[in-house]
Amino acid sequence: MKAIGIIGALCVIVLGSSLAIGQTVRGNPKEGQAIYEKNCLRCHGSQLDGKGPDSQDLIVRPANLQSSMVRSKTDWELLVTISNGVLFSPMHSFRGKLTDQQMLDVLSYIRAVSPPDVVS
Ligand code: HEC
Repeated sequence: MKAIGIIGALCVIVLGSSLAIGQTVRGNPKEGQAIYEKNCLRCHGSQLDGKGPDSQDLIVRPANLQSSMVRSKTDWELLVTISNGVLFSPMHSFRGKLTDQQMLDVLSYIRAVSPPDVVS
């Protein structure tokens, strides 16, 4: 009887923590849109096509977030770029500027407008 209780408690802990993880990795595209408009639109554009109002002035042109090159990247790859930036380019790091949750939110907005291109 005691063993069943312990196993039951373990199941609750494992299940509970996986649910919690499932919730934290999900971004909110609505919040993400507001974050995008404030932090990314001037370069990446309102259509996510890399033609934002500031893009003309940059030597390295902002990435077209609608392109198949971006759509075929994983969430993780894009998050690393948003977090770390791209060396020697105007795409600076957003770590410290945006929270992890805000970066997930903005990623989920990008994915909603420009869905991932899953290679099968
Ligand atoms: C000052 C202009 C500027 C701002 C602001 C900016 N970016 Fe960028 N971004 C760039 C440039 C330029 C590149 C392309 C770098 C390259 O080609 O090597 C880029 C690249 C990227 C990439 C990589 C695409 C790929 O091919 O992997 C992602 C993702 C991205 N930006 C997302 C964002 C997000 C999200 C924000 C807002 C939180 C943002 N950027 C803000 C200029 C900007």
